[in-house]
Amino acid sequence: MAADNTKRVYGSIFDLLPNVDNPTPLVRLHKLVPSDKFELYAKLEWVNPFGSVKDRAAWYMIKDLEAKGQLSEQRGVVEASSGNTGLSLTAMARARGYRSRVVIPNKVPREKKILLKIAGAELDVLNDSVCPAPGMGDGSINLAKTHARAQPDRYVMPNQYENELNVLAHYETTGPEIWKQTDGRITHFFASLGTCGTVMGVSKFLKEKNPKIKVIAVQPSEGHDVPGIRNISQLDVSKLFDRSLVDDVMEIDHELAYRRAADLAQSEGLFAGPSAALIFEGARRVVERTPSGVGVMIFCDNVFKYTSNMIKHLPELGEGIDG
Ligand SMILES: Cc1ncc(COP(=O)(O)O)c(C=O)c1O
Repeated sequence: MAADNTKRVYGSIFDLLPNVDNPTPLVRLHKLVPSDKFELYAKLEWVNPFGSVKDRAAWYMIKDLEAKGQLSEQRGVVEASSGNTGLSLTAMARARGYRSRVVIPNKVPREKKILLKIAGAELDVLNDSVCPAPGMGDGSINLAKTHARAQPDRYVMPNQYENELNVLAHYETTGPEIWKQTDGRITHFFASLGTCGTVMGVSKFLKEKNPKIKVIAVQPSEGHDVPGIRNISQLDVSKLFDRSLVDDVMEIDHELAYRRAADLAQSEGLFAGPSAALIFEGARRVVERTPSGVGVMIFCDNVFKYTSNMIKHLPELGEGIDG
């Protein structure tokens, strides 16, 4: 059955994956934006079928492995992840009949680990930084590589940290979607830095269309616990990062990620996760000093997977909930 994006009737969950004809939504913000001459939009990546921006890279990597005949009933995927890529890969792999193993740092919120189990992942939980870092002797990425090397009949590792398809996915889907959705009017693009697939792929596409578009990366202060993203000091480990494709890197106090997530829910009706909320805070500061423009922010996932982190950082949220 062909996907019908008007009626929204689909032959399988895979038909919901976004592309220029079926983009994730752009939603304009109002109350929290300091100037009404600046149109600021959130791109709601949690509308992806498995709940985050990582569906895009995961799908490109799974499709590629399938095309190369590297996946079978006996052989599935193994990946290190702060949760979202693991969830996307696992959901896709299991729906297509492959196993999935995910190596995840222990600091990742419990909700994400439980979701991975619900999705059917075999899980290794390691004492590692919240966003796995390549090169660490005994970190999550190394353990995933070890599984793939030691058991090549059981696992292949897509390796989102080095796989150029992670960038290509955004160059071919997210970038063109944003260009079309803003009728080419976009002036500012805001994203975070995890594997850097999103910011690299979108920046490359948008700058080819209009080199004047400002690409701004927003990162948390050092020692943060915002899953999925990195401080610039951890960035030399990302093989996909090319500094020349980013105009500005803003550092924001990581505590604000949690505060702004609550603000976005309470003032805009947007249930944004902490990395999206951090991006919002960066964008808000740019709008304060920019008279007009059209900005698009990547809202990577929603807050549902981070309720335990939210209570940790905003203890008032926990008051009265136990009756
Ligand atoms: C919640 C969240 N935000 C942001 C990102 C960053 O995206 P990218 O890896 O494309 O840089 C990730 C990546 O895992 C993530 O899980």
